[in-house]
Amino acid sequence: MIISVGCDHAGFILRDSVLKFLNERAEVIDCGVFTEERIDYPDIAIKGAMYVSSGEADKCVLMCGTGIGVSIVANKLKGIRAGVCNDIQTAKLGKSHNNLNVICLGGRIIEGAQVSGILSAWIDTPFEGGRHQLRIDKISAADTEPSISAR
Ligand code: RB5
Repeated sequence: MIISVGCDHAGFILRDSVLKFLNERAEVIDCGVFTEERIDYPDIAIKGAMYVSSGEADKCVLMCGTGIGVSIVANKLKGIRAGVCNDIQTAKLGKSHNNLNVICLGGRIIEGAQVSGILSAWIDTPFEGGRHQLRIDKISAADTEPSISAR
């Protein structure tokens, strides 16, 4: 499994915990940032999520202050299903119902100690398929049908 990882300065506080967890379970593509340098979250979200959109990575972990900014940006890219999961239950449901391929965490919302539980829930929970796949098919249609994406 290949997972890209990216954070802005507000998500940087979670970066070590995320990398520590993922390095034992996946091949990681590290998109930075590498210090607490200020960076606009759209830049890092596009960089990280593009790996999934292009098929070069299976999943992506993005971090900003809340997870909201990076999720908004990532969801603009084709094939991306990004969601903010700052607790275990949301991470489980985000995978089982929404099959999230990008998880977004908030460095101003959660602490590093919570990261492994949230990422485990996301990675280890299976997608349920069935009626949820039908709904995801409708989301995917927006990637290719101008009449939907133009609304
Ligand atoms: C940066 O200050 C902050 O606005 C950003 O990390 C994020 O929380 C935006 O959604």
